[in-house]
Amino acid sequence: MTVGAAERTISEEARDLIASARELVLELHEEGMAAVPAALAAETAAGGLESAPSSQAAVTAVPAASAAETAAGGVGPARRGEAHAESAAEPVLLAGQAEWGLDPSLEDVRAVIGDCTRCRLHEGRTHIVFGDGNPDADLMFVGEGPGENEDRRGLPFVGRAGELLTQMIEKGLGLQRSDVYICNVVKCRPPGNRTPLADEVATCSRFLDGQIAAVQPRVIVTLGKPAASLLLGRDVAITKVRGTWHDYHGIPLMPTFHPAYLLRQYTVENRRRVWDDLKAALARAQESSGTAQ
Ligand code: URA
Repeated sequence: MTVGAAERTISEEARDLIASARELVLELHEEGMAAVPAALAAETAAGGLESAPSSQAAVTAVPAASAAETAAGGVGPARRGEAHAESAAEPVLLAGQAEWGLDPSLEDVRAVIGDCTRCRLHEGRTHIVFGDGNPDADLMFVGEGPGENEDRRGLPFVGRAGELLTQMIEKGLGLQRSDVYICNVVKCRPPGNRTPLADEVATCSRFLDGQIAAVQPRVIVTLGKPAASLLLGRDVAITKVRGTWHDYHGIPLMPTFHPAYLLRQYTVENRRRVWDDLKAALARAQESSGTAQ
C-alpha cells in the first residue's frame, strides 16, 4: 500500500468513527442518559466537525433530555419536546370505534373535528391544518404539527421543511405531491413551534386514526420522533427506529427523519438514509398495489 493510500484509509476511518460516535451520543441522549452532557449532545447534534447552521447554536439552550431528540426528530431548535418522556401514545382508536363509523371519509373525520376547542392549541391557531393530498393515496406521510406557514395557509408542509418534503416526493420518488396524503399528529400549531404536549397529542390522535381509516394507505411514513412515537405506541429513539419496518394495525410503517432535521443536518449520510427509507416505502406500496416495476 502506498503512503498516500494509507493516509486516505486512516482519514476515512477517522471520519467513520466520528460519525458513529456522533450517532451514539445522539442515541444515548434520546434515551435520556443523563451522563451525556447536554452541551456534548447539542454539539454533536449541531454536526460536530461538519459545518453546522448557526441557528443550531441555540440547541445548547435546550434541556438535556430533549437536546438530541430536538435535533434528530423535532422540527426546530425552538421545540423542546419536554413531554416526550410521557408522550408515548395511549392506545388509539381506529375506525368503527370512533364517532365516524366503520368506513369514514376524510370529510366525515373533518366534520367531527369541527371548529375544535378540545385542547389549548386552538387558542393560538389561525387555521386547523387537517391534511392535504389524495384521499386514496398508497403512501401517507405523518409529520408532527403545523408550523407558522402551515397555520397561515391551512395546509401541511408548505414551509421550508415542506418544500424539501415536496422535492423528495416529486424529484426523488417521481410522484406528484397530490398523489400522496400528508398530515400531522396535531392539527393546530403549537405555540413557538414547540413539540406538542402529551395531552394535546392524546386529544388529537383519534383524528389521525380517522384519517388513516379513511385513506387506508398501503404504507405510512412517519416524519420525526413524535409521529413515530405516537403510531408505535411508545417513546422511540428516531435514530434507532428509522429505516426499519413496523406495523400500524396491519399497515406497514416506515419511520424516517423529519425534513426539518434533514435541513439542519444536511449531510450526505442523512440524505442517503432518508432517501433509502422513502425508496423502501414506495417499493413496498407499489408491491402491495401490484404496480411494482
Ligand atoms: N412540520 C410538521 O411536522 N408539519 C408540518 O405541517 C410542517 C412542518
